[in-house]
Amino acid sequence: MNAGKSIVLIGFMGTGKSSVGRILERQTGLDRFDTDEMISSKFSMPIQEFFSKHGEDKFREAETEALHSLTGKQSAIIVTGGGIVTKAENVDLLRELGTVVWLDGDYETLRARIDRLADRPLLQTADPPVSLSELLQARNPLYQNAADIRVDISQKTPEEIAELILKNIRNFPIGE
Ligand code: S3P
Repeated sequence: MNAGKSIVLIGFMGTGKSSVGRILERQTGLDRFDTDEMISSKFSMPIQEFFSKHGEDKFREAETEALHSLTGKQSAIIVTGGGIVTKAENVDLLRELGTVVWLDGDYETLRARIDRLADRPLLQTADPPVSLSELLQARNPLYQNAADIRVDISQKTPEEIAELILKNIRNFPIGE
């Protein structure tokens, strides 16, 4: 297998990147790397603690390092944190790694999942639904710009999303 032909999942918090990544790992037999897990394990602390100790800028740097460490490796399923696209350098690295798949969730879909996002530092604000809406609006053009493939996640299970990705990805051969 050549390097640089991974499936790279991007998208807002709560769009199911982790679940879909696990399903894709099972179905393709490829290794799975999750940038949040990589950072958490490298610094031996949960992401929330990393944010409060070191701040968002340092977290973005850690994401860049995680992506760098994945370049030149075998094809894999790569799961990223929702803010990875906020740094232009990261977008170049994502593209270098393989086919970038955007799990696109609309406000209503994500709003319904907001309780599950209570541990996300960027939503620990006075008004989480408003923060969600603002962040989503700011991020959507960035996901759009970075993505090769967009999958609308509303009303879909992670299994259905994984199936759609594998169907779509035929035009972007992986692992060859
Ligand atoms: C973030 C998303 C989180 C995590 C961190 C920052 C963001 O990952 O990387 O809390 O900026 O959107 P998930 O997208 O997996 O929730």
